Amino acid sequence: MFQIVERKQLNEAVVMVKIHAPLIAKKVMPGQFIIFRLDEFGERVPLTVADYDREGGTITLIFQIVGNTTRQFSQLKAGDSILDLVGPLGVPTKLPEGTKSVCVIGGGVGCAIAYPQAKHLHELGIQVDTIVGFRNKDIVILEEEFRACSDNLILCTDDGSYGMHGFVTNALQEQLEQGKKYDVVIAIGPVPMMKFVCKTTEPYQIQTIVSLNPVMVDGTGMCGGCRVTVGGKIRYACVDGPDFDGHQVDFDELMRRNGTYREQESHVCNLKKGVR
Ligand SMILES: Cc1cc2nc3c(=O)[nH]c(=O)nc-3n(C[C@H](O)[C@H](O)[C@H](O)COP(=O)(O)OP(=O)(O)OC[C@H]3O[C@@H](n4cnc5c(N)ncnc54)[C@H](O)[C@@H]3O)c2cc1C
Ligand code: FES
Repeated sequence: MFQIVERKQLNEAVVMVKIHAPLIAKKVMPGQFIIFRLDEFGERVPLTVADYDREGGTITLIFQIVGNTTRQFSQLKAGDSILDLVGPLGVPTKLPEGTKSVCVIGGGVGCAIAYPQAKHLHELGIQVDTIVGFRNKDIVILEEEFRACSDNLILCTDDGSYGMHGFVTNALQEQLEQGKKYDVVIAIGPVPMMKFVCKTTEPYQIQTIVSLNPVMVDGTGMCGGCRVTVGGKIRYACVDGPDFDGHQVDFDELMRRNGTYREQESHVCNLKKGVR
């Protein structure tokens, strides 16, 4: 069992939990994730490790409440435990040798995944510009945390209720048109956002790393659930990723595959409710 040592509601749909998991905390690197099960009836759900404390033996997860499992997880309190946690899974983010300047872009809850990247790069002494986007002011998360590890932070809202009015792609385009040079752009968020960030950076030939979120089951390369096409080749996001060269990713296929189980996910199982 893995105990929750802290729980915080970041906005009405996003929750942060710190979990005691010393072996994972000791090894995990930015870009990696865990798969958890709440209990013996639970489905296996992947979440990125948003932060870690190697000495304290804890990892931080930040998740959006989107369906049954994340809703149940959000109802747990500090002191409660979850059944399984496996990780760290996936390949840590790799930057080209000699990278000096990176633009980290996060969209919505994708900011939870972008944050450890920005923090780690800042600690390495790399120049970090951060562009984060939210639908409106009420759902902004991690603003202070990003500010602390960014040389330049641009916060955007779709409706203009806070920060710059517009999408992260508008902010990125402005930076590039003003002559900003980045060795690498890292984009993490909804699939359409990552697709359009890649379209923005392509004419400037800036290497763009995206973190893909296909449906995962085993997380060990066995089931094929997380299959994606990158550069015309089949890749498995759980073992080959989740980071990939965004200019090579078939985003339209990923969007189609991510919709495969929408009907089943919206179904609340009365049978299961009855046996618990
Ligand atoms: C490598 C990786 C890292 C992720 N990191 C985060 C994170 O840090 N924070 C966060 O909020 N979300 C993250 N996600 C997405 C998260 O796994 C889903 O939101 C979660 O599985 C939803 O489960 P549910 O039962 O609450 O919702 P459901 O109603 O079951 O599903 C809602 C949506 O979640 C996605 N989803 C469902 N099951 C899975 C699955 N087994 N694998 C992947 N996606 C699934 C689908 O897009 C689905 O439409 C990550 C996904 C991947 C693949
Ligand atoms: S989750 Fe099964 S192969 Fe990746």
